[in-house]
Amino acid sequence: MRLSILSVWGFLLLISVNLICISSASTDYYSILGVSRSATTKEIKKRYKVLAKKYHPDKNPDDKEVEEKFVKISHAYEVLVDDEKRDIYDRYGEEGLKGENQPFHNPFDIFAQFFGGSGHFGHQKTERRGPNMAVDLEVDLKELYLGTKFDVDVSKQVICEHCGGSGAKNPDDVVKCSACDGRGAKYVKQVMGSNIFQIQTTCDVCGGKGKIVKTKCPHCQGKKVRRGSEQLTVNIEKGMAEGEQIIFEKEGDESPDIIPGNIVLTLKTIPHPAFTRKGDNLYTKETVTLLEALTGFEINITHLDDRTVTIRRDKVTSPGFVEVITGEGMPRHKSKNQYGNLYVEFTVSFPTFLDEEVKTGLKKLFLKQDTASTDTGSTDAGRHYEL
Ligand SMILES: *[C@@H]1O[C@H](CO)[C@@H](O)[C@H](O)[C@H]1NC(C)=O
Ligand SMILES: [Zn+2]
Ligand SMILES: [Zn+2]
Repeated sequence: MRLSILSVWGFLLLISVNLICISSASTDYYSILGVSRSATTKEIKKRYKVLAKKYHPDKNPDDKEVEEKFVKISHAYEVLVDDEKRDIYDRYGEEGLKGENQPFHNPFDIFAQFFGGSGHFGHQKTERRGPNMAVDLEVDLKELYLGTKFDVDVSKQVICEHCGGSGAKNPDDVVKCSACDGRGAKYVKQVMGSNIFQIQTTCDVCGGKGKIVKTKCPHCQGKKVRRGSEQLTVNIEKGMAEGEQIIFEKEGDESPDIIPGNIVLTLKTIPHPAFTRKGDNLYTKETVTLLEALTGFEINITHLDDRTVTIRRDKVTSPGFVEVITGEGMPRHKSKNQYGNLYVEFTVSFPTFLDEEVKTGLKKLFLKQDTASTDTGSTDAGRHYEL
């Protein structure tokens, strides 16, 4: 048992010794960056900029060779860009740098120092932004017709108002992290490719903040945030469209260290019992009796603003006939006093039963009209249509 543990340690030792040997074998920092020995700092930076982007592991995922190259570029840059290190290297070679206590940093940190951001592609922005919150807002057609203003409560995460997002009971409960001595980072040796170097990692005790909370805020239990809500005043403008978005900038979930995203309200129209909307036009259906269809009628439609719109017809109305009332549709968004049209489609309700007397009477009346219309040249087909 004891022996096997020893042999494992021996094996590990062998590997690391081997790796150090490889890394120190022959490294020409100038040729890695492709610059002359007399290159200026500016030239070195320029070359690093080009090469670090080209060989960044994010751009070449799972390519060990590229990863190794990225590390080498970073090392070469770190030494050559620093006058003191470059001088040591020029005089004593790589061996000369071994005496330095922190010869190399994490290549991603170097990359981040140069380009800003996290050292990776895709999230270069230093300010972190929370996600947008999408909320559907149900409105009825009347609200869209008239326009209105109302308050909505949106449930979201808010910063604890008792601790102001520190998570501590009192301000002096925030103390320096002893694990990292307040630096927020620790240095550990790590193997990357065939190199060993000191890598800077985030302190896991304080999460990189360098500070820890001694006594937690009793209101948020140290979480810094709580569930809350935001009252937003929504302004529904006349004629706003279905699916239109109303955006409240930076009103999304709050969290310390981030900029909240937006709250995005999307208008959804609650179906109306009488009217349907297509663009700026309104559509509705009305039913008239057969007698009304034949002899004419007057009907009142109650509009979305409770006004009465009267339709009068003395012509024959066939089933499916559509009356167009201009200017009685939806208001056009952002255009004053402009409206779409109202389309009223008619259905005719036929009697299910006629008694003999009515039939005889109708026949007599229609025959009379026939004779009259024959006199004026009306055709059979025309008469048929009328019925
Ligand atoms: C329609 O409304 C007008 C005015 O409000 C009223 O005078 C008329 O009698 C109504 N007609 C019908 C058929 O209800
Ligand atoms: Zn720490
Ligand atoms: Zn709190």
